[in-house]
Amino acid sequence: MYNVREVTKDLYWVGGNDRRLSLFENIHPIPEGVSYNSYLLLDEKTVLLDTVDWSICNRFIENIKYVLGDRSLDYLVINHMEPDHAGSLGEILSHYPDVKIIGNKKTFDFMKQFNFIADNTIEIKDGDTMSFGEHEFLFISAPMVHWPETMATFDTTNGVLFSADAFGTFGSLDGKLFNDEVDFDRDFLVPARRYYTNIVGKYGPQVQSLLKKAKDLDIKYICPLHGPVWRSNIDYFIDKYNKWSSYEPEEKGVIIVYGSMYGNTEEAAEDIARRLVEKGMSNVVMYDASKTHVSYLIADTFRLSHIVLASATYNLSIFPPVHEYLLTMQGLNLQKRTVAIIQNGTWAPRAGQLMREFLVGMKEMNVLEKDVLITSSMKEENIDEMEALANSIIESMK
Ligand code: FEO
Repeated sequence: MYNVREVTKDLYWVGGNDRRLSLFENIHPIPEGVSYNSYLLLDEKTVLLDTVDWSICNRFIENIKYVLGDRSLDYLVINHMEPDHAGSLGEILSHYPDVKIIGNKKTFDFMKQFNFIADNTIEIKDGDTMSFGEHEFLFISAPMVHWPETMATFDTTNGVLFSADAFGTFGSLDGKLFNDEVDFDRDFLVPARRYYTNIVGKYGPQVQSLLKKAKDLDIKYICPLHGPVWRSNIDYFIDKYNKWSSYEPEEKGVIIVYGSMYGNTEEAAEDIARRLVEKGMSNVVMYDASKTHVSYLIADTFRLSHIVLASATYNLSIFPPVHEYLLTMQGLNLQKRTVAIIQNGTWAPRAGQLMREFLVGMKEMNVLEKDVLITSSMKEENIDEMEALANSIIESMK
């Protein structure tokens, strides 16, 4: 059975939700589900913007058939070839063999790579326009937001920006479609941050370029490929994207990430957390790197200005879950943070030195001078060092 929403005159949401998938990209947990958005324009010509993940293809086809009625599908714009959006392309080609596919050179390269064969293609370049009757589309290349072929499409007639992965979020839509139908801060801001930082976070400069291009457009709606459609308070979300993509923290605060086999390194993490709060910094969150999926750590690392790493030495190296956190942070190009280090070792402690070497290789990371060394467990002799480290964190916030 179809399940569609009208976005604005002539434009329909024909996507769907996936609450069964456990891991997005087979990596990131999505207990909140995810939506795959696709949009259908009814003008003199009919135009579909992107398809959906294969998992919801049947519903998607029913949606399209319902909105089209007895009309056929004339065009398909592919803003992004990643299979969570282009996965139903083969099914569209089989239902509508005469559809003309609009994309750029890379779009068509990737189509072939994914084994989709289409003869009716129209190759466009950045800045090209195309009219479908009343509506005219402007195609805006947005390479690496999130793949090289990614583009955005702007309807110059009604100010709708089809933004591909940009401005997307995790989270199923639950019957709601628009940002003003959801409590975004309560239900979507955390998933949105986790989505952006982990999926697109590496490509901050490219997102900045897209934001610069978007400044010149009179945007009335943002229609992303995941999550709510924005039709009000658009500057709020653009501001979040601006911060995330420039790697500026949203808040002064501390994320403490610890790796602890038997609770002794955890005890040191608890100690520094208490000292920070007692000194007036209560925006502190603690994570056991062994228990929390790294995507959650990354999201809060983008949110906060300071990091405390507390790691046991393991096989003469960094405790593996903490190491994974560091590798992910580095892979996403995270920068502009102040970091304090606590290490633990029963013999030959090495984690502190290795974490420091890792961090100084990253961009604009301010690693505080003195590490705290715990030998097996915290003792009275560590108190002065912990106090000094807490003071130095607070001082660096001024
Ligand atoms: Fe939602 Fe890059 O795909």
